Amino acid sequence: MTTNPEKLDTLLSEDRAFAPSEAFKAKANFNDPGIYERAAADPEAYWAEQAQNLTWFEPFTKTLEWNPPHAKWYLNGKLNATYNLVDRHRVGERKNKAAIIWEGEPGDSKVFTYDMLGREVDKAAHMLKSLGVKKGDRVMIYLPMIPELPVAMMACAKIGAIHSVVFAGFSSASLKDRILDADAKLLITADAGWRRGNQVPLKNNADVAVEDTPIEKVLVVERIGKDSGATMQEGRDVFWHDLIKAAPSDPFPAEPMDAEDILYILYTSGTTGKPKGIVHTTGGYLVGANTSMRSVFDLKDDDIFWCSADIGWVTGHTYIVYGPLSAGATLVMYEGAPDFPDRDRFWEIIEKYGVTIFYTAPTSIRTFMKWGPQYVERHNLDSLRLMGTVGEPINPEAWMWYHEHVGHERCPIVDTWWQTETGSAMIAPLPGLVTTKPGSATRAVPGVAVDVVDENGDPVQPGAGGYLVITKPWPSMLRTIWRDDERFQKTYFGKYPSIYLPGDGAHLDEDRYLWILGRIDDVINVSGHRIGTMEVESALVDHKSVAEAAVIGRSHEIKGQAITAFVTLKEGISATDDLVTELKHHVVEKIGAMARPEEILFTAELPKTRSAKIMRRLLRDIAEGRAIGDTTTLADPSVIDMLKQQYSDKE
Ligand code: WTA
Repeated sequence: MTTNPEKLDTLLSEDRAFAPSEAFKAKANFNDPGIYERAAADPEAYWAEQAQNLTWFEPFTKTLEWNPPHAKWYLNGKLNATYNLVDRHRVGERKNKAAIIWEGEPGDSKVFTYDMLGREVDKAAHMLKSLGVKKGDRVMIYLPMIPELPVAMMACAKIGAIHSVVFAGFSSASLKDRILDADAKLLITADAGWRRGNQVPLKNNADVAVEDTPIEKVLVVERIGKDSGATMQEGRDVFWHDLIKAAPSDPFPAEPMDAEDILYILYTSGTTGKPKGIVHTTGGYLVGANTSMRSVFDLKDDDIFWCSADIGWVTGHTYIVYGPLSAGATLVMYEGAPDFPDRDRFWEIIEKYGVTIFYTAPTSIRTFMKWGPQYVERHNLDSLRLMGTVGEPINPEAWMWYHEHVGHERCPIVDTWWQTETGSAMIAPLPGLVTTKPGSATRAVPGVAVDVVDENGDPVQPGAGGYLVITKPWPSMLRTIWRDDERFQKTYFGKYPSIYLPGDGAHLDEDRYLWILGRIDDVINVSGHRIGTMEVESALVDHKSVAEAAVIGRSHEIKGQAITAFVTLKEGISATDDLVTELKHHVVEKIGAMARPEEILFTAELPKTRSAKIMRRLLRDIAEGRAIGDTTTLADPSVIDMLKQQYSDKE
């Protein structure tokens, strides 16, 4: 197992602790400490009770059926996700409550009340139906952070179609792979998107992506207009606004879905080059998302909730769309970058809309730290009452900076550990109950059973580290990998039967607090984005000059991890700076900008074992300037000296 010893040392010297204030505790949704024990004693009863916060067309008759590794939750229950997100709030007090407050990057903004949002979604559902979308069909969505994105997702769910959102930063090649895997007939995209005042050519990317795929129609939202340079292909491409205008204005009936019917597929990186289509179902996923809004985020009816993630990732699915809306919240959605037009944009948004709960990533906090507190200080952040982080381990310094400069030592911080696969937050303090320690995600939420185990699967003692595991099923767990159940079984349940292996290392301290140490597999976490080393390696060897490549993640002050690639070139190709630039560009073309290697090092050889396995561990040691670990299994130990020399020459 690869854990970072230096990181562990800093974490374990952390002895600051922050108990919930009496005032916060008194008002918290979850303020009875007995909840943990009761939920642990009977998790099914706990999850059956939480499910009552949703509206069911037909009640479930059994809470859980567990045939490891396959779980079914809320059997025979019928519901519709979109009905739960909007329609049920359109009657009564929330009818004219703001559902989505949207802020565009250039400064335009829109507010949708629940009633308005419901009408938009219904028109969009009529439009999708007119395009032939039926229950169970897959619809690909490749949109920037504009209101049409959640509207499109909810329109799919209202029909019972399965959406698969692809983050707009992905390349056309990545989009194409996902279209093919999901076997989708419709793609929804935009002419282009805004990013730091520049245009992202989404439609152009989509044109390349849909070639030789089953996509029959491309539905295009106009975000930029005629300056976007997007062209429409007659017969295949249609404008969203044209069809919306033509759509009937009567309500669209919500399709009653079985609790176990698929709600969406979201692709994520794994240890092989091929992304995995994570499958989430309607009932369980929605219960997980909804429950965590009330428990971890302590959501009240008058809160203004802002999750700064992109909906293209799971954080945005759960904490911009499904969680907040199912709970009837007012949410803020922001289209652009944190430094556009200036580095105080986030704080400006918090002040402008009176955000009360703010959820962001450690990498953003570290960036804000680097920029300095003067940007935060320009704004009044008194509305804030709770803050969260997600995506990667948060270093205690960043936690303290967040606590002091953003939360003004007044707001509890919920560090939430979870994954695309888990659907909703699994390890996080309940803010009215749990004393926090900077850098620790603390403990599992009620109804979730986690542990830290050794190689044999035996629980470790407090004070030790090992593999993080989830020992019992939970409602929002992935059900399978789309069209690859074998990979699902092997990846998550292959090491310990019946026990879910997330792929993270963790340390358990003397108070049984959990400290997540990062991935133990070949997945890198760059600025909170999961990237498979194999994906980047495949992209590199796809280039005509490259013979072989090994990719590792090395510690990076701001990004958490940065990508370093070691590349051997084909005979006769010279290692030039131009080639470095070209290879970086090639990776961006193949995957997307978030996978651009920070550095590329040319080498005549890669360190391999006698059975020709690349020893990435040693490459990591070199890149992080650590003492080189055990090299006895290397076929040719001199390779390491050569690489070390080369690396230090470069620095
Ligand atoms: C990492 C994002 C430490 C972890 C919701 C996990 C974290 C991967 C935390 C999932 C956290 C996420 N502390 N590490 N609070 N949250 N991670 O699928 O390695 O994009 O396995 O889901 O991010 O990334 P994913």
